[in-house]
Parts: sequence; C-alpha cells; structure tokens
Amino acid sequence: MDRSLTLWKKSQFNLLPNPDASRILRYTDDLRAIISKENCHEAHQEIRSWPDYKISELISLPKLAETLNFVDISFKDESNRFNLGSFKSLGGAYAVFRHVQRVVEEKTDKEIGSDTLRSGKYQEFTSQITVTTATDGNHGRSVAWGAQLFGCSAVIYVPASCSQERIAAIEEFGAHVIQSDLNYDDTVRLCAENAHKEGHQVISDTSWENYTGIPTQVMRGYSLIAAEAIVEYFTRSFREAIPPSHIFIQAGVGGMAAAISGYLWDLMDEKRPTIIIVEPENAACLFASAAEGALTKASGDKETGEIHTIMAGLDCGEASPIAWKILSKGADFFMTIPDDITGPTMQLLAKSPFSDPALVAGESSVAGLAALLMTASHNESRRTLGLSPDSRILLINSEGAMDKALYQELVGEDPNH
Ligand SMILES: Cc1ncc(COP(=O)(O)O)c(C=O)c1O
Repeated sequence: MDRSLTLWKKSQFNLLPNPDASRILRYTDDLRAIISKENCHEAHQEIRSWPDYKISELISLPKLAETLNFVDISFKDESNRFNLGSFKSLGGAYAVFRHVQRVVEEKTDKEIGSDTLRSGKYQEFTSQITVTTATDGNHGRSVAWGAQLFGCSAVIYVPASCSQERIAAIEEFGAHVIQSDLNYDDTVRLCAENAHKEGHQVISDTSWENYTGIPTQVMRGYSLIAAEAIVEYFTRSFREAIPPSHIFIQAGVGGMAAAISGYLWDLMDEKRPTIIIVEPENAACLFASAAEGALTKASGDKETGEIHTIMAGLDCGEASPIAWKILSKGADFFMTIPDDITGPTMQLLAKSPFSDPALVAGESSVAGLAALLMTASHNESRRTLGLSPDSRILLINSEGAMDKALYQELVGEDPNH
C-alpha cells in the first residue's frame, strides 16, 4: 500500500454483507414496477430532450487504479449536470415536469410535451401550481429549477443545518426557501403537513406510506446515470468492452443507489456489478435496516443519538421505503465510514498524489471513494468484496463544490482552481 494512503488504511469502517442478496435472485415484477429498463427509458428520453442535456463525463483515475492493483477506477462526474452542480437535477426536475404535465393535460384534454410547457403556452394553468419539498440542498435546487422551467412556483424547506450558500443556490431559481429549526427527517414531515394545508404538491425524493409515485419518478430520472455509464463502458475506444465489476454508491435516503442498482439488475441480471452502499456512520439508515433485516431508523451518534454528518446530502436518518425495497435484495454490501475521512478524500481528488486528473468533489460525493480506499487497504475486506486485479470500479461524483466555503475549509483550496 502506497504511503499516501496510510490514513485510509488506519480508518475505521463497518462492512456488512447483505444476507438477503444473491447473484441468482431474479429481478421481480414488484421491483420492476418501481425501476425497470422500460420505465427508466421513458424518463431518459424525456430528460435527453431538454435544452443543455449532455452526457456526464466518465473520468478515469489510472494511476490510483494501478496503485490499488485494479484494472480501472472511473468516476461518473455529475458535478456539471445541467449546470446545477449535482446528479439531483435528473430527479426532482423530472418529477416536477411529470406533475405539471399531468395537471395541464387534465385541464386541456390534450397531450402536452415538455417543450410546449417550457414555451409558456399554458402559463394560465402552470402558474396556479406550487410544488414543494424538503431538502438538504441539491434536491431542492432541482425542484426549484424544474418549477422555473415548467412555469410554476416552488416552496423549498431546508433543515437547520443547511448552509446559506446552499439556500442561495435554491433561491437563484426563484423559489421561496423556508429554513426550519429541525433536522432533515423532521423537515420532511413539516413540509408534507404544510403542503397539505396550503394545497401544494410535494415533490419529494424520499417516499413514505401512500406517497410513492413521485419519488418513483425521481428515481427513474437518476437511473440515467447508470444508463449513460453502461453505454460508455461498452463504447470507449481506449478500453475493453467490459462493464464495471463494483460500484461504490453513497446513500442518503437510498434513491440514487436503488435507481442505479435496480436499473442494472433489470438490464444485466446475474452479470450486474457488485453494489456497495456507503453511508456516514452517524446517518446510516440503510446499514441499520440491513442489520435488522427490515426498514429501520439510523441509530445516529453513539453517545447522543443525533443524526448528523458533514456529508449534507447523506444526512438522513430514515431511508426511502421504495429504495429499501430494491436495495434490501439488490445491494450486496452496506458500509459506514467516519466523517473525518471526508476532507482528506476531497483533497486526494483535488490534487492527486499520483498525478491523476483533478476532480472537484463536494463533501457528499467522496464517500464511495473513501470506502474503496479503506477496503482496498485490507486483505480481508478485499477478499470479502471480491476485489481483485481484474476489478473495474465505478464511483459517482454526485456533486461538485456546492458549499464553496466548506470546500475551501476541507481542501484548503478554492474549488475554482
Ligand atoms: C451529492 C449527493 N450525493 C448523494 C446523495 C444521496 O442520494 P439519496 O438521498 O438518493 O440516497 C445526495 C442526496 O441529497 C446528494 O446530494
């Protein structure tokens, strides 16, 4: 192990093989009702038709891969997606579109496309709609952007911990932002209660009892990450046409992880990559659920029980039930990592000691890489995860420097450099 990776080798982590996962399990129709090749394809076609759509880059880190003795480590870089800074632009805005489309189609009794809605032709109807959500930042920005694109209003709730910079990024799209004095999970409940009173439509990235349709749409939007990545793995001329063997995916409520896992399970069946779900140790609702064998809240900080992590987008104590439905069988491993590894992992990407390309990654983006570095340094966990010199690792840079002040503090450098 290279000396520059000693910190990761010394760091504590928890790794739990999912007892309910198995390569030979078939993808079933109840999971297909949430995420399938077909329903995701419909979302992909729609999102691909939007102005400024571009495939996000797949960036190789060949020197790090060589150091860790893998064939390849690649980052799917979502930090420039629709110029919004994170992968979340694929989900919330897509669900806003579907909602606005449904309302206008009901009013007009016509089929309405997204270009017509964007043109403002049905403003008299769209301007009557208010969408709302609770967010740690990125999802709310996507909903606010979607509301602006499709001509409706947005009210976005953020928890007490949300930074001013993240709030300003949401307000940029004309949304009204309300900061609660609560944590993320309680802010979700506050938003749902107020929406009910005000007649606003909740566009949430997490689901709950009797509220699954919209978060399902959100997840179908996210699955475009996997669809694009797979095509790139098969078409990149400088690489053999072999898909990734392992994907380390960071999770908050689990929507992104479930969208990617479910899509690839339906597409590739038993040839799908090994999926490792990574969460901060103080906000590990999926890990807790896997340990219990049923949907369970995160236990939080060992002493205080508080759910809190520096990885703002992963700061969730309760998983999304529809995401859990897929991950409870489709994720192969669950992992937790400590907060203090976040800054060094961001630094490693910003200025690679191995002369790999520099990558600006936000604090919620690097959990997958941190988990890879930790497990790759241990013979036993390498074996457990089936990591070998043939491995091709896929990671997701799920956000750029959305909180520039925090980035500067953790990396010691302006992200614009
Ligand atoms: C940058 C970033 N990465 C990962 C996640 C996790 O996504 P999910 O909540 O769907 O698990 C989030 C969620 O907000 C995020 O903002």
